[in-house]
Amino acid sequence: MTRTLTLPRPDDWHLHLRDGAMLAGIAPESARHFARAIIMPNLVPPVVTGDQAAAYRHRILAVTEDGFTPLMTLYLTETTDPADVVAAHQAGIITAVKLYPAGATTNSASGVRDFDRVRGVLDAMAEAGIPLLCHGEVTDPEIDIFDREAVFIDRVLDPIRRRTPGLRVVMEHITTADAVAYVRSQPEGLGATITTHHLVINRNHILVGGIRPHYYCLPVAKRETHRVALVEAATSGDVRFFLGTDSAPHPDDAKLSACGCAGCFTATNTLSILAHVFEAAGALDRLEGFVARNGPAFYGLPVNAATITLEKTDTPVPYPARIETGAGPVTVFDPGFPLYWRVL
Ligand code: NCD
Ligand code: ZN
Repeated sequence: MTRTLTLPRPDDWHLHLRDGAMLAGIAPESARHFARAIIMPNLVPPVVTGDQAAAYRHRILAVTEDGFTPLMTLYLTETTDPADVVAAHQAGIITAVKLYPAGATTNSASGVRDFDRVRGVLDAMAEAGIPLLCHGEVTDPEIDIFDREAVFIDRVLDPIRRRTPGLRVVMEHITTADAVAYVRSQPEGLGATITTHHLVINRNHILVGGIRPHYYCLPVAKRETHRVALVEAATSGDVRFFLGTDSAPHPDDAKLSACGCAGCFTATNTLSILAHVFEAAGALDRLEGFVARNGPAFYGLPVNAATITLEKTDTPVPYPARIETGAGPVTVFDPGFPLYWRVL
C-alpha cells in the first residue's frame, strides 16, 4: 500500500553551503527540497559584515533554482560593529547572527573569546529583534568534549540570557537531554534546532567496530539516552524545537584523514530519514511542525505556501552514496537503515 504525506515546503534553520566549487556542487541538494535555509557564515575568511553577507547571498542565488531563499547570517567577532549588524538586518540582508566560541568547531578561530566584548552587539540585537544563534559548546581544554554543551548552558548561555533578557536565542544543533531540559525550562525567547543525524546516531555509531569518520560532527553525538531525549523533543509537538540539519559537507579526503574534519552531509536524504524517524516514533503527524511550522513561528516568518509530498514505498529508496563536486566527492550520510519514504 502506498501512503503519501503532503506538507508545506520545509525550511532548514542551520545549513552549511560553503563557497566556490563546493557550493555549486552541494547547494542544489538543499534547494531541491527546502524553500529557505539559514546559511552559516563560517567560510574562510568568515562572513562578518553586511556587505560580505550580501555578496555571499548572490553567489548562492547564482547556483540555486528560483524558489530557494538563503537567509543570511553574520559571524560574530569581538570587533563586530553593532551599527553594521542592525543596518544589514534593516536592509533585509541578514536574518540572524551566529556565535561561535573561538575554536569550538570548523573555521571558528575568529569566534568569541571574551563574551564581555560582544555585549554592545548583543544589546543592539535585542533592541532590533535580531536572533542570536549559538554554537553551544565551551572550548575550555579541561572540559571533556562530551560535557561541553551542558557546561556551555551554565557558563555562557544562561548568563547571556539573564543579562540581555530581550535577546532571542537559538541553541543550535542540540545534542543532550540537558539542552532539551534547559529549552523547556525557559518561558520565552529561546528555541533550539535539532539535526537529522543526531536523531539517528549515538556515540557508539562513531566508535564501535572501527572509527566512522562520516559520523563525526560537532557537537559530537552523545550516549543513547541523549539521542532518545532529542527524538522525544523533536516529535513532541513543542514548537520550540525545529529542524536545522547542520548539513556540513567536507570532501572525502578531508574526512578520511588522520585528523578528519567534523561534519555530516545530510542534505540529500534528510527528509526521507526524518519521515522514517517520526513514523517510528508514532509521530508522523508532527513532522510538519518540526520541518515546516515551528521554525517560521520562531523567526516571525510565514509558513511556505508551496508544498512537498512524501511517498512511502514498498522497496527501499535509492539515493547516491556520494555527491561529486568540483571540490571532490562528498559522502552522503548513511542512517544505517533502509529508507522507504521518498520526496515526489
Ligand atoms: C560544521 C562545519 O563543518 O562547518 N561542522 C560540524 O561538525 N557541524 C561546523 C559546525 O556547525 O559546528
Ligand atoms: Zn553547523
